[in-house]
Amino acid sequence: MPSDFRADFGPFEGKVWLNCAHQGALPRVAVAEVNEAVAWKQRPFELTPERFRETPARLRRALGKLIGAPADEIILANSASYGLHLIANGFPWREGDEVLLVRDDFPSDLFPWLALEDRGVCIRYLEPAQHLPDADELRAVLTPRTRLFCSTWVHSFSGVACDLESLGALCRANGTTFIVNGSQALGTRPFHISAPVDAILGVGFKWLCGPYGTGFLWIRPELLRSLRFNQAYWLTQMTADDLGKDHVEVSRPKGQPTARSFDIFGTANFFNFKPWARAIEYLLDVGIERIAEHNAALVDHFLGGLDASKYDVLSPRKGPRRSTLIFVTHKDRGRNHSLYERLKEAGVYVAYRAGKLRLAPHIYNTLADLDRALQVLNEV
Ligand SMILES: Cc1ncc(COP(=O)(O)O)c(C=O)c1O
Repeated sequence: MPSDFRADFGPFEGKVWLNCAHQGALPRVAVAEVNEAVAWKQRPFELTPERFRETPARLRRALGKLIGAPADEIILANSASYGLHLIANGFPWREGDEVLLVRDDFPSDLFPWLALEDRGVCIRYLEPAQHLPDADELRAVLTPRTRLFCSTWVHSFSGVACDLESLGALCRANGTTFIVNGSQALGTRPFHISAPVDAILGVGFKWLCGPYGTGFLWIRPELLRSLRFNQAYWLTQMTADDLGKDHVEVSRPKGQPTARSFDIFGTANFFNFKPWARAIEYLLDVGIERIAEHNAALVDHFLGGLDASKYDVLSPRKGPRRSTLIFVTHKDRGRNHSLYERLKEAGVYVAYRAGKLRLAPHIYNTLADLDRALQVLNEV
């Protein structure tokens, strides 16, 4: 029986939110932080230099703890796309390099690389049998020219998870940089930067329960140092206090860029980053392992209760490739959209993706929530 964390979220007003793969709910402790940020803005004298410094610093600490990285290696972002573009645009490409992508990956993982063809980079697509590749499928397509492989960890359109260890080990052996989009995984599965990945990034507004417009990126320091660097946000070079000096010195930044140099601009983004930091702190206090167990129990409960004479489960039912994204279809596929509508009418929110139903339960869901979904689905 999983613990009940529902009281830390909501109010849900009698609705069942099973669509974390789209948006996670903001915990109440984080709502309090939004309110405080609004209060600061209502009284601008409360926007002190200390708060300008502490807001991004606190978020960096929380994200660092989440992935086992030093806080000063975290790059703050507003999306997954921001981090992917930093790498695509800054990577030291050579004519003839290949970028390997997964054919039906989430579009944010595909678009950033496409314009590299103008720089002589060849884009290749892996077409795995089960949405994301296993080690054999990756081994079969790696060539000496494969400079970079980008993949999502948990696939948004199938719920399939890939094995970062085996894929990363192959990339290392081949001299291929491995970039991972953890948007559908971080917050519901543990991750540590000791894994063989060269960069991991994610959005904040799904399993990390933050506001929309949040994200982050961690780049292995060796890779970070090799990136072409063409931005200099003034607040990474000085503080607002420096503006009080008689003369403000502006010169080209010297030395190696640090993670901070790659931050999205406006890092004291009070309305978004203050509650997001608190949401991550909340998840860390509960423990990501514990959340993973809680969510696995919810998935088990749903899969165990679904009427197999009416539905097929398309996402992995068990094993390491299973995630917290469940894909189901009625045996008569044409009924899926009306089922989606029917669930919504009953106050149960799931997603309708590629003609299938997607359920994505997270920490704030209970077994009773899954029962509500099962009741609607099984009674048709
Ligand atoms: C795997 C994955 N990556 C990224 C995103 C969103 O990307 P962005 O923050 O760049 O809009 C989503 C869903 O919205 C997703 O499922």
